[in-house]
Amino acid sequence: MTETERPTEAGTAPTAWDSVVPRSGEEPPTDRRTAGPGSGPPVPVEELPYELVGRPEPPPVPNGWYAIAPSADVGPGQVLSIVAVERELVVFRTAAGEVSVVDAYCPHLGAHLGGGTVEDGSLRCPYHGWRFDTTGRCVEIPYAEGRIPERACVPSYPVLEQDGMVLFWFHAGGAAPEYEVPLVDERGASGWSEAIEFRSELVASLQDMAENNVDYTHFRFVHGRATLDASTSQFTTDGPFSTVVERFDDDGLTFTRYTWGPGLALLRVPGFMTVHTATTPIDRRHVRLLWNFYLPDATVAVADEIIDGVTGAHGLLADVPIWRDKIFRSRPLLVKGDGPVTEFRRWYEQFYAGR
Ligand code: FES
Ligand SMILES: [Fe+2]
Repeated sequence: MTETERPTEAGTAPTAWDSVVPRSGEEPPTDRRTAGPGSGPPVPVEELPYELVGRPEPPPVPNGWYAIAPSADVGPGQVLSIVAVERELVVFRTAAGEVSVVDAYCPHLGAHLGGGTVEDGSLRCPYHGWRFDTTGRCVEIPYAEGRIPERACVPSYPVLEQDGMVLFWFHAGGAAPEYEVPLVDERGASGWSEAIEFRSELVASLQDMAENNVDYTHFRFVHGRATLDASTSQFTTDGPFSTVVERFDDDGLTFTRYTWGPGLALLRVPGFMTVHTATTPIDRRHVRLLWNFYLPDATVAVADEIIDGVTGAHGLLADVPIWRDKIFRSRPLLVKGDGPVTEFRRWYEQFYAGR
């Protein structure tokens, strides 16, 4: 008997298997978790697909500016299909260089505009050739005479292009942009490297990732650092911006993280590095990272070590399984020494307006 065959003869004692697998003639299941005791070798935990059923929903996608792509990925005439903020989106750039972000589905018969072509400052749908300008308004129906219907629009998003990224504004209630995104001083400045890109996609809720920065006690257990002395650290807010300063006693480095809404931040470690981090929710459980490292002349020779320190086994990768497996507790049990998680949440609440 192979490991996936089941005994079917009369008299076989029923097992947990019997309640989930019909008895005769069917394909054996491929998911061995349902096979019950003794049905095969144990499957290592890391090979099991994740089952999120039964976990509480993470918080919804917050309102804010997010990166949708590096500018260099969207050349003139290019069209990209990207899933972000729980939507299917299409990004395109006209020959004149203007970039636009729109919902993916054509208002006509629903074709995906990601298969379209850029023509004459607009995006032509691949199905029946309707054309939409960079604001999403239909400007041509090639075979219909008379006026273009008012409703022939595809929803579009405000766009900003700066610091090598195409940013778009998402607001669940449809409100206009509520803040400006600061510029990165180090970009293009003398004495600093070009941007060194790091990209990744993770199973994580955006708020969990952001909260990590004010979670002082995890640095010891997850990252093997000295526990942060909360008295040397500060969390301050200013409207949609917040700043956290953290000093680590083991190496004397001071990390200052400027957070610009839920999707963008700048981490400065003087004399060492500046990291411009764009973290975009794909949906409530997944994020896409587009991080640009800028290194001063003093550390550019050890760029690989620095980037690995931030993103590798002692940095980001150490957080990954925690974020992947945790739930979001809306009423966490906090104690003295936990860091300003409550203050952080109070500040973050503003990004859920309009729901
Ligand atoms: S579906 Fe887009 S033009 Fe018909
Ligand atoms: Fe962390």
